[in-house]
Amino acid sequence: MAQKLVVGNWKLNGELAANEALLGAIGAVAGVEVAVCVPFPYLAQAAARLRGVAPGAQTVSEFQSGAYTGEVSAEMLADLGCRYVIVGHSERRALFGEDDATVGRKTAAALRAGLAPIVCVGESLAEREAGRALEVVERQLGAVLAIIGARMLARLAVAYEPVWAIGAGRAAGVEEIRRMHAGIRRWLGERDAAAASVRVLYGGSVKADNATALFAAPGVDGGLIGGASLVADDFMSICRAAAVANGA
Ligand code: 13P
Repeated sequence: MAQKLVVGNWKLNGELAANEALLGAIGAVAGVEVAVCVPFPYLAQAAARLRGVAPGAQTVSEFQSGAYTGEVSAEMLADLGCRYVIVGHSERRALFGEDDATVGRKTAAALRAGLAPIVCVGESLAEREAGRALEVVERQLGAVLAIIGARMLARLAVAYEPVWAIGAGRAAGVEEIRRMHAGIRRWLGERDAAAASVRVLYGGSVKADNATALFAAPGVDGGLIGGASLVADDFMSICRAAAVANGA
């Protein structure tokens, strides 16, 4: 079984001086892979400051170079020492018009540059209430598959982030998570045998006080952490909870 992966997503937060303290307080945890996805301007700072923790980005351009004002390519991220990049976060989908196909192209761009994409999927509350949660997630994954091809699926991490649990203060239930992760893993394994072992992370109101229970859920290979990743003690507690769940 692969090590659990815990990824901080700072979103639109940070400031040089405060980052110094936060980055300095985030350290490696035995038996767990830890990454921190910071805003683009702080990537070099994160790469220089972090020890045993991988720097990552929160999105990436689908384009490699050229007349695309304001874009940041996967090659630039790799050049800065990035290892991971989040693609298809629900905030990008909802607020910045990223559709399923765009997410697929961004995933392909990340793979082309040798980055490890963390592909976010997840349903809205209305979709869950309509009994369509798995169907929505499979559609989102299917769009990525259509662009990268089945053999590349094994290179992804998938983050299941139900939109209704993000920033809500209340995570999805362990049973809901278990079922969805099992569904995602089945879907992946049916398309490529090697893809059955990709890490499927859970995200949405993971906190220091619920991380142990969430990471113990069957099929949860780590977490994508928003708000709690901005508080060093909380983030490190979550990383340690993943180590315990790993049996490390
Ligand atoms: P919160 O942990 O703040 O709910 O955010 C989750 C998230 O969106 C991580 O990508």
